[in-house]
Amino acid sequence: MAEARARAAGVVGLVPTMGFLHEGHLSLMERSATECDQTMATLYVNPLQFDDPADLARYPADHDRDLALAEACGVDLMVVPGAEEMFPNPPLTWVTVEGIGERLEGEYRPGHMTGVATVVTRLLAGLQPHRAYFGRKDAQQLAVITRLVQDLGFPVDVVGCPLVREVDGLALSSRNVLLGECRAEALALSRGLMRAADRFDQGERSATVLEAAVRDAVPDGAMDYARLCEVSTMTRATVAGGETVLVAAARFGPVRIIDNVFLVADHHGASADRGIRLGRPSLIYGSE
Ligand code: PAF
Repeated sequence: MAEARARAAGVVGLVPTMGFLHEGHLSLMERSATECDQTMATLYVNPLQFDDPADLARYPADHDRDLALAEACGVDLMVVPGAEEMFPNPPLTWVTVEGIGERLEGEYRPGHMTGVATVVTRLLAGLQPHRAYFGRKDAQQLAVITRLVQDLGFPVDVVGCPLVREVDGLALSSRNVLLGECRAEALALSRGLMRAADRFDQGERSATVLEAAVRDAVPDGAMDYARLCEVSTMTRATVAGGETVLVAAARFGPVRIIDNVFLVADHHGASADRGIRLGRPSLIYGSE
């Protein structure tokens, strides 16, 4: 990583990924390429953030395609560190963002957020970017990283970027290729969130009502949580507005998916941020 960093000059942007790139990743790379002199992206499937070994084993990969896509999006340096380079010794140092990382995903995937925070810390220390780009689809991850950067004093701007959806509304995720015949059922989660966003646009502010709109759309037993949270702390909000995000997670067959809508209201007005919708099927299906 030190060698890669030495080759980058000017304002350096970083896009950390676990590969099997989709249009969400590419939008981060394109934004970094627009805003920075040089863009580095990383491809590292981080074992520390998988609480389930089966999930790690089936995580999709296509390195050649990733390299070509990243280059086409303006990435100057693709860094693909091996496990040895990331952690020459099994780490004894862990980064836990208390509270923010312990709720929601932290409850359902023990150790996951600490795994994310530890590896992102390692990447920021090794690559020393000026700006680092993350998708708002992982709203809790973004809150955790924003806070760890503040707490540890990394001189980097964390840039949150819009969630990207497939044509039918499913939030983009590399894992979507694993949904198989459960894909149609999985649409229930984004449908529920869109209904909640519509209710918010119509003036509804009650967390209980908005969360119920999501839960009611999802088949019995599939839902892990639907919760309205303050964006920076991920504590539960009882009323939507200010900076809130309605986050949800559910399981469909072998895949657990997370999704959200940002519900923001201030003296300028209120807006539900549903993300960006692709106009054609995601490129991940081209690799099947
Ligand atoms: O969002 C991801 O793909 C991962 O959590 C990240 C940030 C690359 C860390 O492994």
